[in-house]
Amino acid sequence: MQRKIAIIGTGYVGLTTGACLSYLGHKVVFVDKDEDKINMLLKGEVPIYEPGVDDILEKHKDKISYTTDIEKAVKQSEVLFIAVGTPSGKDESIDMTFFRKAVKQIAENINSYKVIVNKSTVPVGTGEWTKEEIKKHYKGKFSVASNPEFLREGSAISDFLEPDRVVIGVSDKKAEEIMLDIYSSVKSKKLVTDIKSAELIKYTANAFLATKISFINEIANICEKVDGDVIKVAEGVGMDKRIGPKFLSAGIGYGGSCFPKDVEGLLSISNSYNHNFSLLRAVSDVNRRQQERFVEKIKSVLLKVKGDIVSVWGLSFKANTDDVRKSPAIFIVNELCREGIKVKAYDPIALNNAKKELPGSVCFCNSALEAVEEADVLALLTDWPEFSEIDLKQVKQKMRKHNIIDGRNHIDSEIAKNLGFTYKGTGR
Ligand code: UGA
Repeated sequence: MQRKIAIIGTGYVGLTTGACLSYLGHKVVFVDKDEDKINMLLKGEVPIYEPGVDDILEKHKDKISYTTDIEKAVKQSEVLFIAVGTPSGKDESIDMTFFRKAVKQIAENINSYKVIVNKSTVPVGTGEWTKEEIKKHYKGKFSVASNPEFLREGSAISDFLEPDRVVIGVSDKKAEEIMLDIYSSVKSKKLVTDIKSAELIKYTANAFLATKISFINEIANICEKVDGDVIKVAEGVGMDKRIGPKFLSAGIGYGGSCFPKDVEGLLSISNSYNHNFSLLRAVSDVNRRQQERFVEKIKSVLLKVKGDIVSVWGLSFKANTDDVRKSPAIFIVNELCREGIKVKAYDPIALNNAKKELPGSVCFCNSALEAVEEADVLALLTDWPEFSEIDLKQVKQKMRKHNIIDGRNHIDSEIAKNLGFTYKGTGR
């Protein structure tokens, strides 16, 4: 049946979730304290870059409304999804300021039975804490649920509508029924569990995927020493169904707003329970070293380093997004600049965001070919499809020296070598 749902927070997760819930037939009210964002949305503009979200919001606008009035949104809805930001705080901990504020506002305005669903990534025990906070203000019946998201930037719509699984953490039957009903037209496995386990599933999934990446990056480092090929190694082990082929692409490390934050978040949760999660500490350390190693690799092919020109292709943390948060590319370019290297950078859509994170000395270019003019090294940092399609002959004509260092194993190494480039991949 059609449910009345409020989405608190119109960031990436909130907007994608709300758009998809309206697609599934529900009535959705988006609420955000940021008036500018709500005004943009009211005008039909979408403040995030995620393919497909704008289309769904437009097509289902009869079921969607936007407001800054949380009291109204809480009172008119039966299910309240909290999707506010939980950034990294000081000392690896999770900054719960926005989350606490949202719960406080719900507690002050709740007037009848509601399911309060947490979508934000929060420490284990937050569901219980939410219950206690609401009880302080409201004596009626309500339920709390945890419904973690597993959306990847760039493919969030299909990740939501055709997920591997929907995880629902609840502590009572009524909430379970309502949550299962909300997702009834999503044809995938549904895992109903207790709230704490649901909270931990989110961290475990991201930490495990990050572990796969750091693991294959270490294997890539060994491949470079023994003259092996990490692509073949990954293919060989990925054929084992127990391991699987995904998230075994070696490169310059993981970035984005999720993996780095959630790895540190799980470490912080472990520390708070006096557990030394040394394996996960190593995952994070390997990730940082992988980026440092790439800088060393670039320096090793430069003649004088200071004043040499490095062309950088790709600044976003992965392809198909303009997001540069914790992007390995941003770390690497900053390090190159610190060494006095001249950087000419190009990214199909992340240039504006990258400009805010990089020194003024970086020369931002309007095309991949412009970025390689007079360069001593071409460093590929994000696997945008257009980079593997560029005519390397033209690239060669424009460069001063013919070095390619491929941080994502994205360029055809055979073509590059046949054209006379010195090509260095990652773990090959
Ligand atoms: C990640 C998870 O994949 C989602 O399931 C989760 O919902 C999301 O975080 C979140 O917590 O909100 P996302 O950050 O969008 O999604 O990006 P991924 O596609 O997972 O990539 C993360 C990083 O790992 C990127 O920097 C990517 O380049 C890197 N990566 C990925 C590798 O270096 N190698 C791989 O094999 C795969």
